[in-house]
Amino acid sequence: MKTIHVNTGSPYDIYIERDILDCCGKIIKEVSSAQKVTVITDSNVAPLYKWRVLNALAEEGLTATAHVFQAGEQSKNLNTVAEMYNTLAEFKMTRKDIIIALGGGVTGDMAGFAAATYLRGIDFIQIPTSLLAQVDSSVGGKTGVDIVQGKNLVGAFYQPKAVLIDPNTLNTLPDKFICDGMAEVIKYGCIKDCAFFDELAKGTALDNIEDVIERCVTIKRDVVSRDEKESGERMLLNFGHTLGHAIEKIYNFTGITHGMAVAIGMVLITKAGERRGITQNGTADKISEVCRKYGLPTTDNASFEEIASSAQTDKKTVGTDINLVLLDKIGSSFTKKVRLDNLLDFITA
Ligand code: GLY
Repeated sequence: MKTIHVNTGSPYDIYIERDILDCCGKIIKEVSSAQKVTVITDSNVAPLYKWRVLNALAEEGLTATAHVFQAGEQSKNLNTVAEMYNTLAEFKMTRKDIIIALGGGVTGDMAGFAAATYLRGIDFIQIPTSLLAQVDSSVGGKTGVDIVQGKNLVGAFYQPKAVLIDPNTLNTLPDKFICDGMAEVIKYGCIKDCAFFDELAKGTALDNIEDVIERCVTIKRDVVSRDEKESGERMLLNFGHTLGHAIEKIYNFTGITHGMAVAIGMVLITKAGERRGITQNGTADKISEVCRKYGLPTTDNASFEEIASSAQTDKKTVGTDINLVLLDKIGSSFTKKVRLDNLLDFITA
């Protein structure tokens, strides 16, 4: 088993092992004195893994129930969280008990938020089942929900007690969502690790997925341990995301996955960096090539004007400036504050 220790304010371990799902009861006993467990999962993941997790909990003598919500980003709202609170209260979960977030990013974010707020905070563990959640969203304690004004506008930084990554769950993940996660994998190489990027460039990442997950999670661990609340270095993890999010918004968050939009965003911002002489020439082409190897798009029909305007009207943008993440070269990144009203000029100049 690979174990990665995360040294945030509330420290925890990330475990990576095939079939670790079947050991979740044992690990809960090691990290918590909980008697009861509520497994929060969605309607796609429940038929695949709910019973395995419930059985593993029963084997350790834990009393458990499952709360299943309708899969999809459209469920990521406060009504769904309120339904989770109902289950937690009816099951008489106390402050000593624990929640399991079993699923992708939407499940982890929402179950984590329910854990952060129910009884002013109870323990939770993450069992991410998508590549994106395994390499990114399950680590670092970002929890939250969407509101009508925008995505992830309500939430909390709240660290899990443990993260259990079972690479075998990727066997049931549709290819489209493997690509989705690969954009975040490529991001880590771009911002922090040229050697890792070169490995990814061989196009064989999926053959060594455990090592790839371990590398990503270690990079993220290092970043969030130094900057848990995103006041500096953690912003680097948003490479490709400002323009990516703007593109997702243009498509109303349908028809394009988060990873597809991030891939396009990484290429666009790096081209802008090259044009301004702050990124080594040829870097955007290298990123495009790797993205294409993993089935990701690198261009979009939306114009620079549409993309900049979508970013400028993003409710998540507070104030007059935006922190763009740029590369000097592959493996080396930095943030640059740009006035929002100069964004179009920055990406086109
Ligand atoms: N997904 C970026 C972060 O956790 O900060």
